[in-house]
Amino acid sequence: MLSEYIKPLTIGNVTLKNNIIAAPVAGFSDFAFRTLCSRFGAGLTVTELTSAKGLCYNSKATYELIHTTEEESPKCIQIFGCEPEFIEKACRDERLSKFDIIDINMGCPMKKIVNNGEGSALMKNPELIEEIVKAAVRGSNGKPVTVKMRAGYVMGYPTAVECAIAAQDGGASMVAIHARYRDQMYAGEADHTITAKVKEALSIPVIANGDIDSIPSLEKVAKITNADGFMIGRGMLGKPWIFEQLTDKHNEINIKSVIYEHIELLKELYSEPRIANVMKGQLCYYARNTRHAKAIRMSTSQIKDIESLKAVVDEYLDVNVLF
Ligand SMILES: Cc1cc2nc3c(=O)[nH]c(=O)nc-3n(C[C@H](O)[C@H](O)[C@H](O)COP(=O)(O)O)c2cc1C
Repeated sequence: MLSEYIKPLTIGNVTLKNNIIAAPVAGFSDFAFRTLCSRFGAGLTVTELTSAKGLCYNSKATYELIHTTEEESPKCIQIFGCEPEFIEKACRDERLSKFDIIDINMGCPMKKIVNNGEGSALMKNPELIEEIVKAAVRGSNGKPVTVKMRAGYVMGYPTAVECAIAAQDGGASMVAIHARYRDQMYAGEADHTITAKVKEALSIPVIANGDIDSIPSLEKVAKITNADGFMIGRGMLGKPWIFEQLTDKHNEINIKSVIYEHIELLKELYSEPRIANVMKGQLCYYARNTRHAKAIRMSTSQIKDIESLKAVVDEYLDVNVLF
């Protein structure tokens, strides 16, 4: 490993080969992207947030969100909800058996979620957190249940320690802290001193999340938090090889070949126009450290087929990255 802080991690009865986790990122971390993260050595991948009620009612959106490949391993499904009955029922869903871990979202800041009392709104109610985790543990048939939360809801008023203790008391096997408040959404700095306090208070593993995208940033957060593992969000977008970069010796990749792999994986579930649409968003990230981000956005805006998409990739992204 490239850093003394990167090592195997055990969550309940699941042992990860390393403690670097691919964060859930709605709109980006679908089954194809997560499979690439696994290929590049992520210790664990996590699905986008998936509605517990949607699972119970078998909605079409849910069907796509829980799609996975065998190669994506080990893997965690993230569900959200605020009603213990639905959480328990969702955890009993046979389709979740292909996942190794079940995570509960207690960090989503979006209005439509928090207005229902879900996501980060749960950080105002530690008693309910404990109930929800207990319900998930009852339904999960021995699979570890984990929680991803924030520093707190209102800026400057951290509730992570009491909420994480409630999760642990409910039977959670790990807690991940995105060290921003709900009020911050994704802006401003993460305050990792709050994660340090959570780590001190818990006996289960604590994962640090927020602004980690390199060995130096990981080591900085590790020193502040003493965390057991690290979760990478925006730093992995358009850069699934970050997991190899963090865990392996120096290497070289070709961006075009990674994008071609990405397209091949998407064919398992999506139609051609859908793949073109999904990849347009992903390409902006693949291009973000090149000079061609704007040109790519403009050349792909009308594209609906894979051949034309690949022509743009051939023109602008046949680039080798050394790390
Ligand atoms: C577009 C976007 C979508 C996200 N979707 C989810 C999600 O579905 N579930 C979740 O727990 N966090 C979600 N997050 C939060 C990330 O997992 C992560 O906590 C956050 O981006 C901070 O980490 P970073 O600084 O490494 O990006 C999302 C973040 C972004 C930017």
